Amino acid sequence: RGKKAFIAGVADDQGFGWAIAKQLAEAGAEISLGVWVPALNIFESSYRRGKFDANRKLANGSLLEFAHIYPMDAVFDTPEDVPPEIAENKRYAGNEGYTVSEAAEKLARDVGKIDILVHSLANGPEVQKPLLETSRRGYLAALSASSYSLISMLQRFGPLLNPGGAVISLTYLAGARVIPGYGGGMSSAKAALESDTKVLAFEAGRKWNVRVNTISAGPLGSRAAKAIGFIDDMIKYSYENAPIQKELSAYEIGSVAAFLCSPLASAVTGHVMYVDNGLNTMGLAL
Ligand code: NAI
Repeated sequence: RGKKAFIAGVADDQGFGWAIAKQLAEAGAEISLGVWVPALNIFESSYRRGKFDANRKLANGSLLEFAHIYPMDAVFDTPEDVPPEIAENKRYAGNEGYTVSEAAEKLARDVGKIDILVHSLANGPEVQKPLLETSRRGYLAALSASSYSLISMLQRFGPLLNPGGAVISLTYLAGARVIPGYGGGMSSAKAALESDTKVLAFEAGRKWNVRVNTISAGPLGSRAAKAIGFIDDMIKYSYENAPIQKELSAYEIGSVAAFLCSPLASAVTGHVMYVDNGLNTMGLAL
């Protein structure tokens, strides 16, 4: 039986979410997506116009397809959480049922049970500000979009996971070590995500017999990373200082995600897996 996956956090073919989708599809999984509402129109039209076709080719010659594409905003749990200024915003109006609970209801209706849940999203409105200059509002927004969103997703999608299923998210070294420039509470959000991975692995393991892991990825020039502003420097730094001197491909993260979600990793849970050419191990750059 082919496995079924739901991936939140794909809005183009440049980020980790896309690469994870592709590697899971290579392994035979059926993929459904939750796409951030403001990015959905452009994603769907680019997809239809063939803009991603070069990156859709699978090894067997077929093209990556998505079974379902749902609008989702991971900062809203239920319809009551959506403030009027969002509901009436022109990028949201016309979309329905984009809160986490409603997206899970749609997936349950259309797909039923799933095996794999992927959280590949983050947002921190003040990411360019040092922590010392971050507002309470910006800090809490970073935690809401980047950390609590995993808890919210597991609450609602957890009951859809088959026993033996797997959950993964994406984290960054800045949650464990100081990375100047990764501000706005995003470092705090990744620290929370890594700690929550352990607690959720325990709770969801006991409750549904599913595994929860997170991948700490090296730098990638995705759309989100470009918004931070220093990604080219980080890629260069990694190239110069990591044990393995090569640029990281998003598909390398996709492959590890496929491994972590497969029975090959049936005893791995609550783990922060570094996929960063080994950069995290260095204490002194040479
Ligand atoms: P990306 O831009 O491809 O993915 C981020 C996605 O989050 C986008 O599709 C965006 O639409 C979505 N998103 C933002 N706010 C949302 C919300 N409220 N609800 C639903 N979706 C929302 O960028 P990337 O880099 O692939 O990011 C994926 C994950 O990888 C993030 O957790 C990021 O922190 C993590 N990561 C990225 C690194 C990098 O260097 N690019 C390094 C380590 C971790």
